[in-house]
Amino acid sequence: MCQTEKLDECEVIHVVIVCVGHNATRSAATVIKSMLFYRRQPLHFHFVSDSAAKVVIENLFQSWKVPKVQYTIYQSSRLIPSVSWVPTNHYSGVNGLMKLGLLEILPSWLQQVICVDTDITFADDIARLWLRFKEFGPREAIGLVENQSDWYLGTLFKTFKPWPALGRGFNTGIMLMNLARLRLENWDQMWRQTAERELLVRLSTNLADQDVINGVIHQSPHLVHRLPCFWNVQLSDNTLSEECYTSVSDIKVIHWNSPKKLKVKNKHVEHFRNLYLSFLEYDGNLLRRDLFHCNFTEEQETAQSSLETVISEDDPCFEFKRSRAIKYRTHLYYVESDYEPIRDKYDVTLVAQLSMDRLQMVDALCANWEGPVSLALYLSDAEAQQFLSYVQDSHLLRSRRNIAYHLVYKEGTLYPVNFLRNIAMEQARTRYLFLTDIDFLPMIGLYSTLKKAVQTLKTETSIKALVVPAFETQRYRLNFPKSKAELLSMLDLGTLFTFRYHDWPQGHAPTNYARWRTATTPYKIQWEADFEPYVVVRKDQVPKFDASFQGFGWNKVAHSMELAAKNFDFVVLPNAFIIHLPHAPSLDIAKYRRSKQYRKCLKLLKANFVEELKVKYNFDFKYKIS
Ligand SMILES: *[C@@H]1O[C@H](CO)[C@@H](O)[C@H](O)[C@H]1NC(C)=O
Ligand SMILES: *[C@@H]1O[C@H](CO)[C@@H](O)[C@H](O)[C@H]1NC(C)=O
Ligand SMILES: *[C@@H]1O[C@H](CO)[C@@H](O)[C@H](O)[C@H]1NC(C)=O
Repeated sequence: MCQTEKLDECEVIHVVIVCVGHNATRSAATVIKSMLFYRRQPLHFHFVSDSAAKVVIENLFQSWKVPKVQYTIYQSSRLIPSVSWVPTNHYSGVNGLMKLGLLEILPSWLQQVICVDTDITFADDIARLWLRFKEFGPREAIGLVENQSDWYLGTLFKTFKPWPALGRGFNTGIMLMNLARLRLENWDQMWRQTAERELLVRLSTNLADQDVINGVIHQSPHLVHRLPCFWNVQLSDNTLSEECYTSVSDIKVIHWNSPKKLKVKNKHVEHFRNLYLSFLEYDGNLLRRDLFHCNFTEEQETAQSSLETVISEDDPCFEFKRSRAIKYRTHLYYVESDYEPIRDKYDVTLVAQLSMDRLQMVDALCANWEGPVSLALYLSDAEAQQFLSYVQDSHLLRSRRNIAYHLVYKEGTLYPVNFLRNIAMEQARTRYLFLTDIDFLPMIGLYSTLKKAVQTLKTETSIKALVVPAFETQRYRLNFPKSKAELLSMLDLGTLFTFRYHDWPQGHAPTNYARWRTATTPYKIQWEADFEPYVVVRKDQVPKFDASFQGFGWNKVAHSMELAAKNFDFVVLPNAFIIHLPHAPSLDIAKYRRSKQYRKCLKLLKANFVEELKVKYNFDFKYKIS
């Protein structure tokens, strides 16, 4: 091995990942976690991505803030013309060919990169792999591990004729590319000629880029540098991978390249699966540790630490302020979705936030709301996996493409309710938003009712918040009313109440339920202090929620106060309603009720907020902080 060779301890390692589509960002995040776990060097990731993955990656890295990690994103669409002419029947489609064109988009100053598939798990420091570049012979340009199956021997099926390869061929799941040398060898021309020649006698590639690269190596064997096989232990079936290591501790990279993924047969699969699952569930926030031996600094870190020092522990709002300073790691579009409002300028997105304990509401809510949904979820890394299988197991949710799930990873002690609302709101793609809470079920048909309402109410001429009246039930099994008439009779019977009728009537009193009973047209109401309605607003008009309010208390009241300060007209919709379903009280409410400190801080935050509003909007209103 290469123990004698050493890296400069701050040498940057460059990694290329082709990451296209929402699904790929999930697997990429797990490979990256495994790399970060073992690394001791600065890393620079180069992503080849489409616009969907780009948004996710940018957001993830900006919020993850791992020290000494940089990233660059290259548009995969730029590569499509170069590679799409190669027919492929691999499941990855044209994306599987992108690696062929890397030289066209990577910057010319870049000398060498490690190119990594997203179905890889690292079990050792990538620096050891980077060191292999020093072992390359003078003309070697691509470092690869041999394919550990008999595929390229052509003996697997009777009439099967694979692409030409040296012996068993090579696997491109881990590929060391000496870019400088590949440029000298005129790589781009080389692979094109090989592909053109081979496609004269066969219809397509079976294994995408891997077939073409093997074809090139067959033609020009001097290019290849053979890597020890433990750098890419391939867990496909028919595999020889078990011959490649004597002890599992030798293994440095595991490649889940079987279509069966985690269910593959291998003597040590339990061991591999555990390794994979531990990275899947590992708290990514813990990977923010710095490399103190590399002393170049980045501005981002100083901002965070200076905030820490300013807040005194005696401050009644210490906990709030510390949480407020957290930059929550965020993985947008965790599950694939592709909603584009099709030129419908009156479309409405339902916006809400939740944590694991409300997950079962998502099904019921989406059953009653067929329109687009933008949800922010506050989860740990381990809960994210449970959430994923929940969605994949639900027939309803699996079939919906218009629900966007944005994951915000847990950190600190308070529930960042308004931060979550803002994330869900920002990511909504429609012009109008319905700002609601996860434990309310919309009436059947609310989506089309709201779309019609926003058309007739001329939000073009004055800014409006359309109020959807809220009700509640104490019953776990509710015969959900199918119409306003049914709802009214249930109110009379006492199976339903107006929302928080017993403990906080002022929260919804301005809705004027008495008038609503008989109303057939929308009516304007006056905002009052403590009003916290559920509203439909225009995305470009609505202010953000104030993220200082965390946990329980005043998080929505503050927002409706700001709407009032901004001169929104509150207009109640006569034929719309939502019903709150019962649930156990949240931990945050319990905290509020128990802690004097918490209430004291909340009072300070309110006073502050009201002062700021007065200044910002020149809004003069009488409000006594209770
Ligand atoms: C993304 O994953 C889901 C299941 O998890 C699957 O149904 C869908 O086809 C995948 N999308 C792509 C483009 O592979
Ligand atoms: C080698 O051949 C197998 C077919 O058994 C194929 O699935 C795989 O993608 C090829 N490459 C590797 C790494 O095994
Ligand atoms: C840190 O960097 C500065 C200059 O950038 C250098 O003078 C100093 O020796 C470095 N310290 C260590 C411990 O490497």
